[in-house]
Amino acid sequence: MAKRIAIGNNKGGAKKSTTAVRLAEALAKLGKRVGVVEMDPQGNASRRLGWKDDPENPQLTTSEAIEANAEGVASQVWQPIGWQAEYASRITVMPARYTLEDRATEAGQRGAYRRLAKALKGADDHLDYVLIDCPPSLGHLTQMALAAADHAFASTEPEHDSVEAAVRYRDFVAASGEDLANPNLNFAGLVVSGYDMRLAAHVGQLGGVRDIFGDQLWGVVPRRALITNADEYALPLSEVADSGEVRAVFELLGQRFIKEFAA
Ligand SMILES: Nc1ncnc2c1ncn2[C@@H]1O[C@H](COP(=O)(O)OP(=O)(O)O)[C@@H](O)[C@H]1O
Ligand SMILES: [Mg+2]
Repeated sequence: MAKRIAIGNNKGGAKKSTTAVRLAEALAKLGKRVGVVEMDPQGNASRRLGWKDDPENPQLTTSEAIEANAEGVASQVWQPIGWQAEYASRITVMPARYTLEDRATEAGQRGAYRRLAKALKGADDHLDYVLIDCPPSLGHLTQMALAAADHAFASTEPEHDSVEAAVRYRDFVAASGEDLANPNLNFAGLVVSGYDMRLAAHVGQLGGVRDIFGDQLWGVVPRRALITNADEYALPLSEVADSGEVRAVFELLGQRFIKEFAA
């Protein structure tokens, strides 16, 4: 059975989607089979993985999987990603479009918070890891992700509002396990991403993150334009010039994942 990890932060721009996408890439390079579940109606992770929405020929998405309210239905929604890299065949995506927003209004229906868990049941046994990319809120979509996850993981920029929002996500996870019928859910760790050591604010906030999270800080990803560009053009890092340092950073994070979340 796959280990499911919900990647969140109660703020946009905190590098959640980049963390999900690049971690999936690193884990696939390390030989693991990875599913990325898009739980953000913005669909950024899906697009960056090269998945294309075709309005003429609509594909099934996370939205339909949740709406179906049926065990294992996610097995019909996994799709290949659009990258050409050799290891891309080990990554599969459950994509989403803005229509995922419609699921948020179903929060009041009986058991609605368990619908992603239900959809994934038995539908991720062929994978080693499932990374669930959360929206920036702590509302229903994130709660469905947390109800389905074994662990929660955060990303944050080294800036005050983002760190504060990572703490909110951590505390929300700690308080929600029982309520989401997922009592073993735990907050495992976080990555600081977009770090620029020339900025005093970033140096100060990185120190603050170390104080607050201790050894739950699993990695620091530097701010690099090539990451923005890779995301912008939906490219794997293997196709981006001079990406060796960045690939090494994500592969180290991937190794930590494999060690902590033995699949
Ligand atoms: N380490 C990094 N260095 C530079 N840009 C980054 C880095 N990580 C992410 N980005 C860029 O920052 C922006 C916000 O990241 P994103 O993953 O979309 O955040 P979130 O999903 O939390 O809203 C995106 O344009 C992304 O490409
Ligand atoms: Mg995002």
